[in-house]
Amino acid sequence: MNHSTLNVPTCEVDPLLVSGVARGEPAACEALAAALHDHEGRCLSSGPGYLVLSGLGQLDEEAARRFVLAVSAMLGWPMPQDFDGEMIREVRDRGVTLESGATVRYSDTRQGGNLHTDGMHRPGEIPAYFTLHCVRQAASGGALVLVHVDDLVRELCLEPDVVAALREPVHFDTRDGRPDRPATVPRSILEFDGGSPRITYLREYVESAHRRPGIAPLSRLQVRAMDRLDALLAREDLRTYRRLEPGQLIVINNRTIVHGRTAFENEPGEGRNRLLFRTWIAAAR
Ligand SMILES: [Fe+2]
Repeated sequence: MNHSTLNVPTCEVDPLLVSGVARGEPAACEALAAALHDHEGRCLSSGPGYLVLSGLGQLDEEAARRFVLAVSAMLGWPMPQDFDGEMIREVRDRGVTLESGATVRYSDTRQGGNLHTDGMHRPGEIPAYFTLHCVRQAASGGALVLVHVDDLVRELCLEPDVVAALREPVHFDTRDGRPDRPATVPRSILEFDGGSPRITYLREYVESAHRRPGIAPLSRLQVRAMDRLDALLAREDLRTYRRLEPGQLIVINNRTIVHGRTAFENEPGEGRNRLLFRTWIAAAR
């Protein structure tokens, strides 16, 4: 059993509480915030690193947007997800692939793999948590893949050269494309915060940053360290799969969980494509 399968809770939220929070009613918001904070210590900041809320299927898309922003504000500070200040990102297939352009984002594809953490390419603070609210699920595939950093570090404990290489700063491509914005942001893949491991990763963005002119190529040890990390991320015994149903929202600790998804195929027809609402949350201060 890996770390992420331990004591994984799915919280069924009372329908009256759901609609009250979506309408911004103070008593409903206080009640849900109290329940979330109760779970936060056991499920997010420690434990499996994620928490699923279910019972949200009654919400239409506008109410779901209000709900996911309200939940995000209960856990910290909702963060913009691009330079234009977008607070809720629609995660859906936009008909592109990561290979089709330097500014394509993983969340706009229906590709699987590429396990990563969110927001690593944005200068400034990395989201502490992120949420995904499932509005519509794919016809097939589209399950979340989760790997806990504690399991990775445990496997790497006899490989200090790999750990040291992962602690060295590398560049992440910002995928922005505008000349007045930074092209890369330097970060370490692995950090220890008071002894607790924190991870930041998306290999494709590291490699594209280090292909840019003026950025030193990755060292052989850095490449080997990422190869080793990728091998661990591919190990089935370290992975947890979680396929969200419509009306479920997952909160994920973005500093301890590396995530991805399985490739997916959409239902044919207009307005039937897989759609998730995503928020990023800065740590409460
Ligand atoms: Fe992601």
